[in-house]
Amino acid sequence: MSKLISGFSKFSKEEKVSWLVENNFQNPLESSKIIKQYWNKNEKLQSLHDDFIENTITNFYLPFGVAPNFIINGKTHTIPMVIEESSVVAAASLVGKFWSTKGGFKTTVIDTQKIGQVHFMYQGDFSDLENYFKAKEYELYKSTASITKNMEKRGGGILDIQLIDKTKQLDNYYQLHVTFETKDSMGANFINSCLEAIAKAFGNEKIEVVMSILSNYVPECLVRAEVSCEIEKLGGENPKQFAEKFKQAVDIAQIEPYRAVTHNKGIMNGIDAVVLATGNDFRAIEAGAHAYASKSGTYRSLSHCSIDDGIFRFWIEIPLALGTVGGLTALHPIAKLSLALLENPSAKELMQIVAAAGLAQNFAALRALTTKGIQHGHMKMHLQNILNQLNTNEDEKKQVVAYFENKTVSHSDVVAKVEEIRNAN
Ligand code: MEV
Repeated sequence: MSKLISGFSKFSKEEKVSWLVENNFQNPLESSKIIKQYWNKNEKLQSLHDDFIENTITNFYLPFGVAPNFIINGKTHTIPMVIEESSVVAAASLVGKFWSTKGGFKTTVIDTQKIGQVHFMYQGDFSDLENYFKAKEYELYKSTASITKNMEKRGGGILDIQLIDKTKQLDNYYQLHVTFETKDSMGANFINSCLEAIAKAFGNEKIEVVMSILSNYVPECLVRAEVSCEIEKLGGENPKQFAEKFKQAVDIAQIEPYRAVTHNKGIMNGIDAVVLATGNDFRAIEAGAHAYASKSGTYRSLSHCSIDDGIFRFWIEIPLALGTVGGLTALHPIAKLSLALLENPSAKELMQIVAAAGLAQNFAALRALTTKGIQHGHMKMHLQNILNQLNTNEDEKKQVVAYFENKTVSHSDVVAKVEEIRNAN
């Protein structure tokens, strides 16, 4: 059990590590070594990362990989991905290449509006509240002038403020429902600052503001990505059978929530990896995507499939509130590098790239699931992890990889093979 401590955040980093290892680990020396092993020798860079959060003690590495050969609306991209799951980048790369010879991904941004709300309680007459709102409306916009000035120069700002009566669902509960356009920024700080200014300007002795906050439900910040081709071009032994089985898999995820959640998780494998690599907020993206998947009242697949007149079509519609300026995108050198790799896209362009990565990941998973099964590819990729766990040397690795070239990988079979090699030496 950890100990209570006061003033921890005031400690230096060294002091924090000393307290931590001495009070929480069986082997303080070893734990301290592991923690410090990940400190970057470049002090300026380390200090930049230290300052992202409170109480930083070290860095946590995740692999940064790239998936080349993504053709999106005719333009070729190499997509940066940050993820720990071994098969994701490999799958994205394969699928990027696969569709590059079939017209690539076609993407469109449907809309880019974001929402924020001032939640408040009011006990009086609704028509009085409506009149008060109408009289105040101009002032509400004016109260945000210093915050919206720069955003307006970039073509964004507050698009609309509406008074909403929610008293049927909760006694005395109303909202100011505010619609924003935040252009290339994700806009969380901008939206929250505007909302707090609006709440301040709106409040009176009868209006009790509960909170002012953006919504991560962004069904109007929506992007669509699609791939399509003649069924024959899908290749394989029986492309028609493949297409039909693939569509069945998507149809199942449309009506069966247990499957839909896993199906969408596969999509998020691709989405989150690019969102992380570009310094965006993957929790916001996750929350918004899963809420959108439930918009009909039943949790459903975010992707869709059709087969009409011999054409296989597979597409996704997903809300993605992303930014390419501000926040971590400007601060984190690797996030900056990722954006440079994508040729410094606008937020709209990034939405399309991320949606394509999600669709690609979903295609890879469904193709595997409906043909060879998922474990075939997964375990092949997992083989390296198992070999690392077993502390194999380069020669042992080579022998084991060659042995499993045409065999199904299982953890116990790998352990047995490594033992066999070691016993033979
Ligand atoms: C694993 O991370 C993702 C899958 O489960 C997705 C799916 O089942 O569609 C393979």
